Amino acid sequence: MGRAAGKVAIVTGAANGLGAASARALHAEGAAVVVADIDTNAGTALVESLGKNALFLKLDVSQEQQWIDVMAATLERFGKLDVLVNNAGVVVMATIEDTTLEQLKFVQSVNIDGPFLGCKHALPAMTRSGGGSIINISSIAAMVGTPPFAAYSASKGAVRSITQTVAAHCKMRRNGIRCNSIHPGSMETDMTASLLQLGATSPLAVELMLEMGSEVDRYGKPEDVAAAVVYLASDESNYVSGSMLVIDDAATAV
Ligand SMILES: NC(=O)c1ccc[n+]([C@@H]2O[C@H](COP(=O)([O-])OP(=O)(O)OC[C@H]3O[C@@H](n4cnc5c(N)ncnc54)[C@H](O)[C@@H]3O)[C@@H](O)[C@H]2O)c1
Repeated sequence: MGRAAGKVAIVTGAANGLGAASARALHAEGAAVVVADIDTNAGTALVESLGKNALFLKLDVSQEQQWIDVMAATLERFGKLDVLVNNAGVVVMATIEDTTLEQLKFVQSVNIDGPFLGCKHALPAMTRSGGGSIINISSIAAMVGTPPFAAYSASKGAVRSITQTVAAHCKMRRNGIRCNSIHPGSMETDMTASLLQLGATSPLAVELMLEMGSEVDRYGKPEDVAAAVVYLASDESNYVSGSMLVIDDAATAV
């Protein structure tokens, strides 16, 4: 029996990076998985590689109606919802001095509106299933200052507080739903690669990022986060809710 056998999971931003690794790991542990992303090509390819019990649904996490549609399609196909991984995220490399309001709102729309709407629309379905597990992918940027990523850092702090509010809400409602956040450090994904290509509009942010980046001696692999997702999705973490799991090779400890 897999550690997520019989569970139905939605993973957002699952076409690439940490989301794809999490979707693969949950599927390997026996879950039926909805790969939800704006990237139809990569999402469809992942679902084809997974085979049975996998479904691609197009979802822009900043759009509430699309969440409503994805929940309905998931229930229609798999009959219930046990796990939601709010993983989709975007980053803009710009400091507090040069982030435009437009950039701030874009980052917030994906990184804050996404998990907020995901939690909101998962709760009724999970309540009907008798419980569930919501896993929000935040960042160590929620815990320490990250000057080159001002809007991103603010958004990931919000993910941390949304998580604790949802966990407390569910405890008070006694609905059997747990909610936890994961805080990765520097991981090997397209997001990181695009930053290292220095495509930023802000020279100051680039300078500060290179200074911060020089301290990263080892990048994590998407599977390092996926292993934590499986744990939090499984019943092994039955008594774990409202927690913040840092996966950063002690980057924030030193
Ligand atoms: N890579 C890191 O070092 C790192 C560190 C800490 C936290 N994180 C967080 O982990 C999560 C995944 O990051 P990643 O590195 O795998 O990124 P990635 O860029 O490799 O993949 C992100 C995925 O999200 C999808 N996406 C983007 N906007 C979307 C939207 N509006 N709706 C639905 N899907 C959307 C993309 O199509 C892509 O498939 C993000 O929330 C990120 O902030 C990443």
